[in-house]
Amino acid sequence: MRIGVLTGGGDCPGLNAVIRAVVKTAIHQYHDEVVGIKDGFSGLISNRTIPLDLEKISGIMPRGGTILGSSNRDNPFAYAQTVDGKLVKSDVSAVAVENYKSNKLDCLVVIGGDGTLDIAHKFTAKGLNVIGIPKTIDNDLSSTDTTFGHDTAIGTVMDALDKIHTTAESHHRVMVVEVMGRDAGWISIAAGIAGGGHIILIPEIPFDIEKIAQTIYQRKGRGKHFTVIVVAEGAKQKGGDRVIKRIVEGASETVRLGGVGEMVASELERVTGLEARTTVLGHIQRGGSPSAFDRILATRYGASAVHHAHEGDFDHMVALHTPEIVAIPLEKALHKMKQVPLGGSHVVTARRVGISFGD
Ligand code: F6P
Repeated sequence: MRIGVLTGGGDCPGLNAVIRAVVKTAIHQYHDEVVGIKDGFSGLISNRTIPLDLEKISGIMPRGGTILGSSNRDNPFAYAQTVDGKLVKSDVSAVAVENYKSNKLDCLVVIGGDGTLDIAHKFTAKGLNVIGIPKTIDNDLSSTDTTFGHDTAIGTVMDALDKIHTTAESHHRVMVVEVMGRDAGWISIAAGIAGGGHIILIPEIPFDIEKIAQTIYQRKGRGKHFTVIVVAEGAKQKGGDRVIKRIVEGASETVRLGGVGEMVASELERVTGLEARTTVLGHIQRGGSPSAFDRILATRYGASAVHHAHEGDFDHMVALHTPEIVAIPLEKALHKMKQVPLGGSHVVTARRVGISFGD
């Protein structure tokens, strides 16, 4: 087979480990050829490709990012271009199909989140053989137990929380740490538990500033004059809405969240009179060398995707259904966001050890 591979959407640790596994499996097991497509679907539209052989992927496992580049703006079915100063969207999918054919591809392995995999699914109707591999640091896809990149992001946030603890304690401050995750609180709750956060705010549980203040006072009553609060970027006050930082025109997901950490800190200063500071971890969470867990999961996904390509399981996505890697139809896998369940083990465990959700 001639297998194309592309990485789309926001990057995350482990993408290179997947690319490596795809190439190794394709060459060692099946004597296939692999073609890398640059910058997600953008490269399929403009026909920018590179041959991927064993030499090209040598040593990339520990590297963050993606050697292929990525894009979360180039949807071939609604391709945004500026014409006469105006943003116009048009369907250029036929160009992408033509390039798939001119590269003599038998299959396209698409590594991406919900938006990217949705585009992959749409190409099936245009005759392309696609296999999806789910990625996101947010872990918000319900069709798989977890995505690679998430574990590394949790580790990054945990390290930051360890560091925040010491300065919080020295200065008797309230420290608010804002983390990513869009409308799911997985990064916040998992890293908050691992990093010893005292208050965790997640989109699934709207918070009340007065309740957060009470927890801070209770801690002070126990002689703890500092508090570490982990807040998910999508968290909102009771009766309030998400804090939006910007709108990215032309992106598949236009809303960018951000700013809730600063809002929580200033509200707490107003209510308690205590000093509060905010740290926004931002894209640091998307970088770095993948954890052992993510390297293994990424390798399992990549190897399995090539296996399923040879089985003819197109329009499917590989997924972790512990302990197995399975292939599920993209149609069933898409558009099902996985949020933190209120009665689930993470929330129950956090409450048991005295973590407050500000509710
Ligand atoms: O989905 C991954 C993610 O990092 C989210 O956690 C975050 O909200 C978003 O992407 C940021 O997107 P961008 O890189 O476009 O700012």
